[in-house]
Amino acid sequence: MNDSMNILILSCGTRNKIVQYFKTELKGRGKVIATDCSELAPALYDADKHFIVPRMDEEGYVDIILSICKENNIKAVLSLIDPELNLLAENRQAFLDIGTTPIVSESDVVEICFDKYIMCEFLIKNGFKTIRSYIDKEEFYKDVESGIVDYPVFVKPVKGSASININKVSAKEEIDLLFDNHDNLMIQEFMDGIEYGADCYIDMISNETVAIFIKEKIKMRAGETDKSVSVKDDKLFELIKKFIKVSGFKGIIDIDIFKVDGEYYISEVNPRFGGGYPHGYESGVSIPKMIIENIAGNINENVIGKYDEGVYMMKYNEVKIFKTTK
Ligand SMILES: Nc1ncnc2c1ncn2[C@@H]1O[C@H](COP(=O)(O)OP(=O)(O)O)[C@@H](O)[C@H]1O
Ligand SMILES: [Mg+2]
Repeated sequence: MNDSMNILILSCGTRNKIVQYFKTELKGRGKVIATDCSELAPALYDADKHFIVPRMDEEGYVDIILSICKENNIKAVLSLIDPELNLLAENRQAFLDIGTTPIVSESDVVEICFDKYIMCEFLIKNGFKTIRSYIDKEEFYKDVESGIVDYPVFVKPVKGSASININKVSAKEEIDLLFDNHDNLMIQEFMDGIEYGADCYIDMISNETVAIFIKEKIKMRAGETDKSVSVKDDKLFELIKKFIKVSGFKGIIDIDIFKVDGEYYISEVNPRFGGGYPHGYESGVSIPKMIIENIAGNINENVIGKYDEGVYMMKYNEVKIFKTTK
């Protein structure tokens, strides 16, 4: 059991596919263990073993996860939800001390991802095109007057996720109303073009970007890619590689990019498996396999762009049935 490659997936929720992919790729060389704070998280029941844990903001949570890792000889741990990523990054050493590798970028990099305005400043500072953004609405109004920016615009929370409270806005009155009722909003130029999602893996040993899978988003639903088609684009591969190198990401990331008038604009990064990742996996880009190679001590070969173009993904619902023994 000592050399088994057990993997722990935290806050697995409804991400059954991710649990299944790890099981498939481990080929019996280790177990997939999943946690969630709700016993009604369906993905728990696809894992080899599961634990119901407290909510991540409860005191002592990290210690509980650490003891699960220790007792179950966990080699790698990852989380599927945003607020937990920094918890893993900040406690990296405590996990490493017990032989568990957190599959996540460094804490400072994770922090940048969760503040869309800071990400925007970071992109500008490093010479990448990004979406013109404002957190000060008066500054925005001034730029409207001087013709630098115009309606429609996109208003969203600086620290938002899952497309919650996103608005396309066409008038000053609407912006005033939104800003009166919500804190921490940002105003962005409306990107009228094509939106892409890129699933990337940065090797945890070599620190090289070894996988990029690009999909054009056709339809979004509840903040997730619902329908998409795979695309290949050398210019975009190069841009993504350069961006990753400058930012220092590690492990899995999911990048949102817009193309407007032939130019690419990096929008945001989720430093975890994106909701649309099944498209990449089913197209042959197996990030779970790359993680397993890394924890076995092997460097992954570069497979950037090694997938077919024109492959469509369409999501649909499934159900999990579970009977208590009570
Ligand atoms: N500036 C923008 N212009 C046009 N559409 C946008 C803009 N910003 C966001 N969107 C749309 O809203 C969705 C959610 O916004 P995003 O910034 O990715 O936040 P999150 O995914 O964290 O909720 C995007 O996938 C995109 O479809
Ligand atoms: Mg997004």
